[in-house]
Amino acid sequence: MDLKVEFETHFGIAHTRWATHGVPSAVNSHPQRSDKGNEFVVIHNGIITNYKDLRKFLESKGYEFESETDTETIAKLIKYVFDNRETEDITFSTLVERVIQQLEGAFALVFKSIHYPGEAVATRRGSPLLIGVRSKYKLSTEQIPILYRTGICNSFLHLLGTLENVKNICKTRMKRLDSSACLHAVGDKAVEFFFASDASAIIEHTNRVIFLEDDDIAAVADGKLSIHRVKRSASDDPSRAIQTLQMELQQIMKGNFSAFMQKEIFEQPESVFNTMRGRVNFETNTVLLGGLKDHLKEIRRCRRLIVIGCGTSYHAAVATRQVLEELTELPVMVELASDFLDRNTPVFRDDVCFFISQSGETADTLLALRYCKDRRALTVGVTNTVGSSISRETDCGVHINAGPEIGVASTKAYTSQFISLVMFGLMMSEDRISLQNRRQEIIRGLRSLPVFFFFFFCLCLHLQRQSLLVMGRGYNYATCLEGALKIKEITYMHSEGILAGELKHGPLALIDKQMPVIMVIMKDPCFAKCQNALQQVTARQGRPIILCSKDDTESSKFAYKMIELPHTVDCLQGILSVIPLQLLSFHLAVLRGYDVDFPRNLAKSVTVE
Ligand code: F6R
Repeated sequence: MDLKVEFETHFGIAHTRWATHGVPSAVNSHPQRSDKGNEFVVIHNGIITNYKDLRKFLESKGYEFESETDTETIAKLIKYVFDNRETEDITFSTLVERVIQQLEGAFALVFKSIHYPGEAVATRRGSPLLIGVRSKYKLSTEQIPILYRTGICNSFLHLLGTLENVKNICKTRMKRLDSSACLHAVGDKAVEFFFASDASAIIEHTNRVIFLEDDDIAAVADGKLSIHRVKRSASDDPSRAIQTLQMELQQIMKGNFSAFMQKEIFEQPESVFNTMRGRVNFETNTVLLGGLKDHLKEIRRCRRLIVIGCGTSYHAAVATRQVLEELTELPVMVELASDFLDRNTPVFRDDVCFFISQSGETADTLLALRYCKDRRALTVGVTNTVGSSISRETDCGVHINAGPEIGVASTKAYTSQFISLVMFGLMMSEDRISLQNRRQEIIRGLRSLPVFFFFFFCLCLHLQRQSLLVMGRGYNYATCLEGALKIKEITYMHSEGILAGELKHGPLALIDKQMPVIMVIMKDPCFAKCQNALQQVTARQGRPIILCSKDDTESSKFAYKMIELPHTVDCLQGILSVIPLQLLSFHLAVLRGYDVDFPRNLAKSVTVE
């Protein structure tokens, strides 16, 4: 193969900004630039926490800022470093390396410059960044060796080598490479690279990706990609594997649905099945989570379980806390990641900490994970995204296998997280004789779940008020929190999940004929207490819509409207009772004319604190 092929390279950068600093406007949008001549442009996902100091410094050097963003300081800073370079032939990557040494906070960055035509440099710290690789040729390499600048290699020589080359490179690790040993893919657009925060953005082009690590600097020049790190530490892996994503394009298309959220709600019979597939053996009543099996002994010996997440993922933890305590016979703390960090919660090496996250990239959850790792606790990831930061940084974990979730409002991830945590409880209790009947009951419940879903996929309610209360207790308290969150985030209507036991301590004051109230009343140990709450609501002329068990004649006497749910084992009921609330939020939002998949002010993956 001819190695002297000229590459014609084209590189564009763009970013959908989630406004952290400055309102959404043209001047605050990305790319941000160094100057009116666009010498350097940059896109940025994350937050630069020391941007004020940097801005002050750069202003003192005469740089004029046009936007309110933190990102603009990065564009100006790279120009400052360039203008003050000590040698003419400084590389683009070296500039970026110097810039990131000055940055604090979280970032994934991609730079372009008129001084380096055809080149782009990307880097990350704290925010996710991956590179999609598409080639006309079958890429025989599986590993991209990382070059370390300090003391090893002064230039970035290669990227896509033949398998032999790459193996040699990996063997000899940091030895200086002879560029002629590298085989580059050739031809017009022979290799294309896609930089993105999330795999779903590039899956229509390629399913082969490299996940970058913090402080990796990836440069594309002359059609070649090189990755390097500034310093090497003992724990550094010297290569980045090209991984093949299992995601299919059709999984991220809407098909016949009007919105991803709707599609994802209706996918739940399948997604909950996929979460259990190959893990729950309904014949032997056993559960095996491959990612946890080697750590079971350690988990069984632990002092307590701490389950940490944000938003919907936190609700999955609330929903399963009781059954986890029952099955594991361990104390279980559930924590909102941000609050957990704010409190500097004491964590010990004999704690086991679970991190629940659909995206695997939520900054608060990721920071909580690092906090627990520093305290030497065993960390377990429960994520829906293979290769995500949380799945890579935890000691072990469970992939929930719900398939890509695109709608900003999380739906199918919730039910799959719920089931994953229940499966963990079942696996922990396998040897407990006293729990065998209960385990069997739960496993039978899991088996029939996918069928139950089909029962109420035809629900539509019309509510016109500006506020909505969702009330329940026990196993269904989390259902109320999660249902209220769904309603808030996509209908922009105020909604509150209320613990029915707290009704008389305040929320009862809100009840009248006008206030829409949804009550979740299932035939479980809290049934009688929920009946009390129902009486209190109707005594104040409340008109509750009741989600209840089939044939619940008692609740039906007081219901303004009833939605009957198939009955399953108490600790799994929340998986079914959340569905009408997901659908309700969806239909309310559609009726109000809102874009369900892109609720205002929200992002799917919240990679900033
Ligand atoms: C709500 C929603 C958010 C996320 C939260 C955590 O519908 O989607 O509340 O649940 O931002 O995200 P993950 O699960 O990706 O960590």
